[in-house]
Amino acid sequence: MTTPDSTLPKAELHLHIEGTLEPELILALAARNGITLPHPTLAELREQYEFTDLQSFLNLYYANMAVLVTEADFADMTRAYLGRARDAGVRHAEITFDPQAHLARGVQLTTSLAGIASALADSEAEFGVSTELIAAFLRDESEESALAVLEELIAMDAPIIGIGLDSAEVGNPPSKFVRLFDRARNAGLRLVAHAGEEGPPSYVWDTLELLGAERIDHGIRCLDDTALVARLAAEGTPLTVCPLSNVRLRAVDTLAGHPLPQMLAAGLNVSVNSDDPAYFGGYVDGNFASLAAEFDFSADVLATLAQNSIRSSFATDARKAELLAELGHWRSAQG
Ligand code: ADE
Ligand code: ZN
Repeated sequence: MTTPDSTLPKAELHLHIEGTLEPELILALAARNGITLPHPTLAELREQYEFTDLQSFLNLYYANMAVLVTEADFADMTRAYLGRARDAGVRHAEITFDPQAHLARGVQLTTSLAGIASALADSEAEFGVSTELIAAFLRDESEESALAVLEELIAMDAPIIGIGLDSAEVGNPPSKFVRLFDRARNAGLRLVAHAGEEGPPSYVWDTLELLGAERIDHGIRCLDDTALVARLAAEGTPLTVCPLSNVRLRAVDTLAGHPLPQMLAAGLNVSVNSDDPAYFGGYVDGNFASLAAEFDFSADVLATLAQNSIRSSFATDARKAELLAELGHWRSAQG
C-alpha cells in the first residue's frame, strides 16, 4: 500500500536483523534445517508474542535464532528485511547483528557475517537501499567475550562500520565495556549503544562520557534528567527511538503516553525506527503511521523525523545529500 508513511524517504538506524525473522520464516527455516521448535506451529509460535518487559522478549528472540544455521539462512532473512524496508520507504539502513548470540549456538562468525553481508552487497542494486552493518555486543555477557569477538572481526577486516551494545540493560551498565569501546574507536569503528530503554539516565550519561557513543539507541529515559536533555539537545546527539517496541516491551504504558513528542519539543535529534519489527507489530512505516495517527503529526513533523534519520546516519555525504534532496521533493509533493 502506498501511504505517506511508506513514500516518505528515510533512513532506518536501529534495526536488529534477527528481530526481522517473521514467524513464517522461522518455521520455514526450521523445516529446512530439520530443527524441532518448542512451539512448532504458527498458532503456537504466535501465542508467545506477548511481552512484559525487555527480558521476556529477549528470551523468545534468542530461542528463535536456533533456526539460523547456514549462510543462506542469514542471507534469506536479510533479503526479506531489505524488501520489506524498501516497501516502507527506507532508502538507507544501518543493520545490527548479534554475533555472540550465534557463536554461543556453534554458528561461526564467518557464517553469520558472510550470509548477511552477501545480501547487503546486492541491496542497492536490488532494492535501492544503501546499507551499513553494525556488530552489537551483548551487555549481559562479559567484556572479555566481546573483546575476543571484536578482535576476530578486526582481524578478518569484517565489512562493519561500527559496533553497538544491546541485550539486557538493567544491571549491565556501560562502565562494563569501556575497554571494548576504546578498542573499537582505535580501530576506526563508529560507536553506538542502547541506553535509557529500561535503564536510568545515568546509563545514558555513562554511554556518552565513558564509552564515547556517537548515537544512543532508544534514550527515552533521558527525559527523567533535565541536565541530560540539555546536553543531548546542545550536542544534537542522535536518539534512535522505537515507539512500537517501547509499547510492546512496556517501557511506556501506551502509544498516547510515548515521550517522542516531548523529545521533539525539547529539541532532541530524534529518529523513528522499528527495532525488532517481526516482534513488535510494525516496520518503520508502521511506526510512522501509528505516531502520525496518535499525535496527528503534520507532513512537516514527519519530514523532520526523516531528515534527522538521514543526517544521523553513517552514510557518505553524497548519499545523505541525495536522500535529503529526495525528502525535499516528498515534502513539496505533500503541499
Ligand atoms: N536486542 C534486540 N532488541 C533489543 C532491544 N530492544 N533492546 C536491547 N537489546 C535488544
Ligand atoms: Zn534495539
